[in-house]
Amino acid sequence: MSRIRVGVVGAGGIGGAHLRAYAAWPDLCEIVAVADVHLPAAQERAAQFGARAFQEYTQMMDETQPDAISICTPPNLHLPIAQAAATRKIAVLCEKPPSRTLAETESLVTALEQQHTILQFAFCHRFHRPVIQAQELIGAGQLGKVVQIYNRFGFRFARAGHSWFTDSEVAGGGILIDTLVHSVDIFRTLAGEVAHVSASISTTLPIQVEDSAMLLATSVEGVLGALTCSWVTPVSEAEVRIYGTEGEAVIDYGQPDGLRYQLSGESAWTQLPFDGPDRFVCQAEHFLQTVAVGGTPAVGGQDGIAVMKVIDAAYRSAGEAQPARLR
Ligand SMILES: NC(=O)c1ccc[n+]([C@@H]2O[C@H](COP(=O)([O-])OP(=O)(O)OC[C@H]3O[C@@H](n4cnc5c(N)ncnc54)[C@H](O)[C@@H]3O)[C@@H](O)[C@H]2O)c1
Repeated sequence: MSRIRVGVVGAGGIGGAHLRAYAAWPDLCEIVAVADVHLPAAQERAAQFGARAFQEYTQMMDETQPDAISICTPPNLHLPIAQAAATRKIAVLCEKPPSRTLAETESLVTALEQQHTILQFAFCHRFHRPVIQAQELIGAGQLGKVVQIYNRFGFRFARAGHSWFTDSEVAGGGILIDTLVHSVDIFRTLAGEVAHVSASISTTLPIQVEDSAMLLATSVEGVLGALTCSWVTPVSEAEVRIYGTEGEAVIDYGQPDGLRYQLSGESAWTQLPFDGPDRFVCQAEHFLQTVAVGGTPAVGGQDGIAVMKVIDAAYRSAGEAQPARLR
């Protein structure tokens, strides 16, 4: 089988992570191009990975004809870049958030579906080994019935107020759409689809968007989620706690290990190892394997729509200061 020819659009922070992840699979792919509106950024990354650099992503697509691309630009560009890829039947790995709004996300998914072109959303935590261990633990029934899930992503975000991340025209909102999308996808992965939410947001910095958010989610199965995130708290925390009738499991992103859990009747935690590559490398492998066989990605268009329905309901709930059902 010939190697997948990949291009990356957007040579910023996460573009670098995608390139590093593709480079980990030299037998599966060849990095052919990097595009960035800021050409020196594309040139620097391209030189690092032996690829061609472009300023215009359509020119990159036409001149190098990649089999697949990563979309690693700010969210306002996810839809037009995906549409350009769809018309050329180029498979897409699109960064989170899927787009700025639910409607844009639906348009993006439709564009790829109409061309029968592969779309994977980069909800990278799906490929984080401890999250997979949690799924396995829950699936084996070891935690009993899952009743509550707590998640926090809190840190001091240096780019708040100094970048597109806090420009709602570009980002679609603030931390809720930027960071809590990950939390929502993790919650869906562990608890199933969300039925309704209640959200609160606040702004502490002198910026136009929210920089702290809390979301109370109830899954269709009745699992309760408390998802909280902030860009203004100095102690970095990234944690998921899963509470079941027969035990508790903890994913602590600050530790190098895997999941730890304690079951009913036990007095000590069991620590699982973190074996295998990081989530970006695993995510890239899954995308490449899917493209190679023309398959269906584990994290596809409908996942993006489902997450954005929750984000949409969360903004409505926060705006109206009352709970919101998903549309
Ligand atoms: N999965 C994760 O954990 C994770 C982490 C960080 C960022 N992200 C997401 O990745 C995306 C990019 O974030 P980032 O942190 O890399 O941002 P960034 O600002 O570091 O990089 C974005 C790059 O896109 C380029 N760009 C802008 N317009 C362009 C255009 N028309 N054509 C080509 N390139 C263009 C910019 O010049 C910049 O180099 C966002 O959607 C963000 O939410 C995901």
